[in-house]
Order: sequence, then C-alpha cells, then structure tokens
Amino acid sequence: MNITVIGTGYVGLVTGACFAELGNNVTCVDINKEKIAKLKEGIMPIYEPGLDAMVESNVKEGRLHFVTSLSDVEAKPLAIFIAVGTPSGEDGSADIRYVLEAARDIGGFIDDYSVVVDKSTVPVGMADKVRAEIQQALEKRNLSFHFDVVSNPEFLREGAAIEDFMRPDRVVVGLESDHARKVMQDLYLPILRSPEKLYFMNVKDAEMTKYAANAMLATRISFMNELSVLCDRMGVNIENVRIGIGSDSRIGSPFLNAGCGYGGSCFPKDVRALVKMAEEHDVEPLILNAVEKRNFLQKNIMHEKVVERFGDDLNAVTVGVWGLAFKPGTDDMREAPSIVLINNLIKRGARVQAYDPAAMEVARGLFPAEWFNEGKLTFTEHQYEALKEADVLTLVTEWKPFCYPDITVMKNQMRQHVIIDGRNQYNPEQMRAAGFEYVGVGRGVKTDAQACGSIPENLYRVSE
Ligand SMILES: NC(=O)c1ccc[n+]([C@@H]2O[C@H](COP(=O)([O-])OP(=O)(O)OC[C@H]3O[C@@H](n4cnc5c(N)ncnc54)[C@H](O)[C@@H]3O)[C@@H](O)[C@H]2O)c1
Repeated sequence: MNITVIGTGYVGLVTGACFAELGNNVTCVDINKEKIAKLKEGIMPIYEPGLDAMVESNVKEGRLHFVTSLSDVEAKPLAIFIAVGTPSGEDGSADIRYVLEAARDIGGFIDDYSVVVDKSTVPVGMADKVRAEIQQALEKRNLSFHFDVVSNPEFLREGAAIEDFMRPDRVVVGLESDHARKVMQDLYLPILRSPEKLYFMNVKDAEMTKYAANAMLATRISFMNELSVLCDRMGVNIENVRIGIGSDSRIGSPFLNAGCGYGGSCFPKDVRALVKMAEEHDVEPLILNAVEKRNFLQKNIMHEKVVERFGDDLNAVTVGVWGLAFKPGTDDMREAPSIVLINNLIKRGARVQAYDPAAMEVARGLFPAEWFNEGKLTFTEHQYEALKEADVLTLVTEWKPFCYPDITVMKNQMRQHVIIDGRNQYNPEQMRAAGFEYVGVGRGVKTDAQACGSIPENLYRVSE
C-alpha cells in the first residue's frame, strides 16, 4: 500500500519505518527541513534502538522516502497518517494547531478517496475538526469526493518503540465506514496476525481510549509514589509492598514502581489534557488532579533527600547524576525529573556532574549556557567520571549500564559514599555492605526529619 506519514517524530518515524519494513511504500513528510536533510543522509534525529538500521535498509530497498512537503509525495497514498505533536497548551489543554495544519495540508493535496488516520493523541471530537479542515480545503479547490477520518491512537513506548509497533497488545481503531475498516485491516493484520487484537469502535471512543490508558498508568505511578512517601515516614519498604500487591492478579505488577516521578511527552500532557476536557464538560477531575499534583511533588523528592542529608546550603557539595532522559532507552528529555533535580541543586549552590548514554546532546540546550561555562554543571563522557570527587550519586534514570555498576570504581571516584536512588534500582543491603550510605524512594528511610519526629525512635527502622 502507498502510505504517507506526516510528522517524523518518535511516533511518525517509527510508524513509517515499520510499515515500510512490512513491504509498504512509505513517504514521511516533515516541515522540519533539518530533520529531513539528516534523515536523507541516514542520520537519525532521535535515539530509538534499532530504528537506524530499519530506516537504512528500507531507504536502500526504495520503500521509505523523506520529503518536506506533501506536494513532493510521488506515490499517491491510500492512507495518510497524522503523527504531529500535540503538546500542552498554556492552559493544559492539548495544542491541536499542528494537527489542524496537517489536515489543511491534506485537503490541499488529496484528489481522490483517502483514509486520513489520526495517530497523534488528540482531544475527543478532534476527528470532526480534521474532517472539517480537509473539507474546507477541498472546497477551495472545487473538489468534492468522499474521504474517511479514522482515529488510531498509538501506544508505543519510547525505547521499545519498534517492538511495541510490531508486536502490539492491541490496535485500537475508531472509524465510521466499511471502506476505512478494510484499509485498516489490510494495514494491521500483517502485524497482528490475529484479527481479535484489532479493536474497532466509534471514533470518539478510540480518542478517549488513548487518554484513559495514559491516565490509568500515570495514576498507578502516582498512587505508588504517594504510598512511598508514607512508607518512608513509617519505616516501611515500598519495594516489599509493591511485590506484595503486584502479585495479586487483580492488580498486576506493571507501572507500580515508586520513584522520582514520571515525565516524557505523553503522561504529563495527556493527564493535563484530560483534566481540561473534564472541566470543559463540568466534571470535577478529582483523581486526575491528584495524580498530577503528586507527580509535581515527586519530582522534587530527590532534591529533598539531598538537602536532608547535606543541608540547605549545597555550596560545598558535588552531586553526580546518572541519567537525564525521562526513561531509559530514549534521548527524550520532555518533562524529565532530572531537569527539576538539576535546577534545584544548582540553585542551592551544588556542583552537578551528569552522565546519560543518549540524552546529553538534547539536555545541553535545556540548561543555561553559563552553568556549563562556570563549571556549575558538567556533562561527562563516562558514567564514572560523573562521580569524580562527588559527595553523592543520584540515580535518576535506570539505564542498563547503571544497574550493575563497578562498586570499586565508584568508591574510588567518590569523595563521600552516598547513593540516593530515585528508581529503587539497587539492593540496599548490598550497597550498605559495600560501605555506601543508601537512600531509596519509600524504602523506610525518613526524608523529612520534622515529620518523622513524632515517630518514636524504636519504631523507626530501615526495613530491608
Ligand atoms: N512519543 C511517544 O512515545 C508517543 C507515544 C504515543 C503517542 N504519542 C503521540 O503522538 C504524537 C506525536 O508525538 P511525537 O513524540 O512523535 O512528536 P514529536 O514532537 O517528536 O514529532 C512531531 C513532528 O511533527 C512535525 N510536524 C509538525 N507539524 C507538521 C506539519 N504540518 N507537517 C509535517 N510535519 C509536521 C514536527 O516537525 C516534528 O518533527 C503526539 O500527539 C503524541 O502525544 C507519542
């Protein structure tokens, strides 16, 4: 099938490359000329494991093309995917301007039946707006023919995007016509093999499904994060609680890790957009507001733990930071907890030395240049270099090379042997046996001396 994908970000590029891998003829369009120029040279604009090889081989086979405008698309597409960004607007609602622009471009481009597939995460009812934009643009061209607008939300995870796209748990499709249904089946059955995993529903239901999925996952994380704060104050180990509840088949284990908050391009903005949708329909979003607020507080938790250990004035403190990306396997820095931590530390006078296997180039632009020039913030070439003369290691992103570090090298590099583990990645007993002071999130170590003051000393213990 001839396919066009508008937007070559994390979703669009993966979608385009994967459909090409399946034998389709795909053209990816992006208005960002630099991105397209790089892609044409074989340089990936994002870090996503396996993507470079897949793009390279499909370009070589002539199944994947990159252009900067729909007018340069040579093979007339039957399916056109919209995969442009829908960031948070100022009031928290999804900024839909890029989707509308893409719709206008489509209306100025198609001259025959097409299925327009909305893969961007968009507010409920957006398909009607996309249809209206396309219709208006067609009328300007004195054209009139039937086209379909379909909602096909994407559930891939950055860092495992190809695997998720090629082996999804399910594919959700919201549509209104048999013709569109046939096109979507032709596209997805080679991936799914079994039609039961292809869920057809109304367009609005599909649009809401995407928000509901992200909000549910964010809720689980915030729930555990809230419990982790309580666990710290009561001398309870959240890790044991996690195992204890996650083994209940009614609950299940995914997305129950307590930590320093969720970030990324989806959970934060999608929870906020759903809050906004609820408010616009006079529904008070009690749970969603709490999820968002807990996450805001949780992003400060590592900084609080550093202050509790070293005091308010961090002028004499050097902090090693392992991990900048919002999660392992990506260079995506959008709403990453590391941004909050580093800003807080530097404002308190700390020197910060950070290392990330993929995100340092992106992260460099997010902090003031003078911090780098004045040596307040350094990005190092190796993970152990970030620990040189450091008083504390803060683990923010659980990249694989951080999971089993060389303890001897760490001890030799560090001035003081303190670990603040924002992802509960390490075995506290092992780290303590190795001579480290260890603080996790919710592992029964108090974070707030005053709040814990009311708990009798003999009831307070480290419970690992
Ligand atoms: N990133 C994820 O993991 C993920 C997962 C599921 C769903 N989503 C959703 O998918 C959508 C895309 O997310 P992303 O992370 O890939 O975005 P992104 O910001 O990485 O990429 C969007 C791309 O669209 C391009 N663009 C904008 N307007 C355009 C236009 N008119 N024509 C052509 N190109 C245009 C931009 O230049 C950019 O390269 C969002 O709605 C997001 O919520 C993202």
